[in-house]
Amino acid sequence: MIEMHGLTKRYGEKVAVDGLTFDVRPGIVTGFLGPNGAGKSTTMRMVLGLDAPSSGSVTVDGRRYAEHPAPLHEVGALLEARSVHPSRTAAGHLLALAATCGIGRRRVDEVLDQVGLAEVADKRVGGFSLGMGQRLGIAAALLGDPGTVMLDEPVNGLDPEGVLWVRTLLRGLAEEGRTVFVSSHLMSEMAVTAEHLVVVGRGRLIRDQSTADFIASASTGRVHVRTPQAAELRERLLAAGARVSSSAEGELDVEGLTSEEIGSAAAVSGVVLAELTPVQASLEEAFMELTADAVEYRPGAHAAASTPDTDDTDTDTAVRRRSTPPRMRPPGARRPGLGRSAPKQSPTAARRTSDEEVAA
Ligand SMILES: Nc1ncnc2c1ncn2[C@@H]1O[C@H](COP(=O)(O)OP(=O)(O)OP(=O)(O)O)[C@@H](O)[C@H]1O
Ligand SMILES: [Mg+2]
Repeated sequence: MIEMHGLTKRYGEKVAVDGLTFDVRPGIVTGFLGPNGAGKSTTMRMVLGLDAPSSGSVTVDGRRYAEHPAPLHEVGALLEARSVHPSRTAAGHLLALAATCGIGRRRVDEVLDQVGLAEVADKRVGGFSLGMGQRLGIAAALLGDPGTVMLDEPVNGLDPEGVLWVRTLLRGLAEEGRTVFVSSHLMSEMAVTAEHLVVVGRGRLIRDQSTADFIASASTGRVHVRTPQAAELRERLLAAGARVSSSAEGELDVEGLTSEEIGSAAAVSGVVLAELTPVQASLEEAFMELTADAVEYRPGAHAAASTPDTDDTDTDTAVRRRSTPPRMRPPGARRPGLGRSAPKQSPTAARRTSDEEVAA
């Protein structure tokens, strides 16, 4: 269990983490979400005592990290996967870590095998790809068989098989009763991996709730209807005060009425329904909606204005553009040539715009 009380970190004027109070409970995967610069990594560094809080406290299983006699057995963490000496071999790196806690070679071989690096155990880390580096970082986190596992963007750079492997691994660790705290910008992945979410923005706690409740709270309020009597039902629903739009023949999108109310209205009018579906928001939509005001680093003032309730006359086009993945990488984000890996991309990055779009 990780417990934070009023955890705060200031860097000069900048308040990177602002009074965070929440618990990360054992037995479930807790996702840690927030836009770029929200304070996730800083929070995780404070859990490990790598950064000292300006105020407030954080403990793991009731003690500060540094107070644990064998911390590798308490908390396994992946913060900066690349912070490994490049001329060390994978096994050499893990053996050095293992030696600090009396862990033997057998366990090192075990975790190397577990993360799929057994074949390159004696290769230098400097020659590793991004994903191999991540795998090594995860191996290091698992080395001490810790009760708490904390991973900062573990799937960053992993291939699809690797992403699936991390999902299975994290859920397995939680099922064994461990505390699993993981940050990621890959919303689709968090939606199926994390049972609970902590969402931060500008250092502050925005949400601390189950993934299901989080998504439900951002439900679109829209109901999708299919019927062979669309015109008839449309009249009826408009009269009941609903807003109705249609994207295809025989289909209606209804706002302002629940699915029960729409079903009743259809029954009263003798309208046949082929489908009646409340439209769920995705985790990504829920996240974007909730953190829209907390996004600090957003290129181009126009990107911020492209929400559907603006007077953008070409909303459809704007939405399409926004959902197009950025082709340009922010400078320095990643070495070129690693394009096969999933880029570290926040949902906000999906809003990043080309010059053309900013000008539009
Ligand atoms: N050592 C530091 N010195 C000064 N400012 C810092 C330092 N570390 C972090 N910050 C600032 O604190 C804020 C939070 O940074 P942090 O890295 O914790 O965000 P994050 O949520 O992990 O973001 P990302 O999703 O981009 O990884 C940022 O504005 C960052 O610039
Ligand atoms: Mg970070």
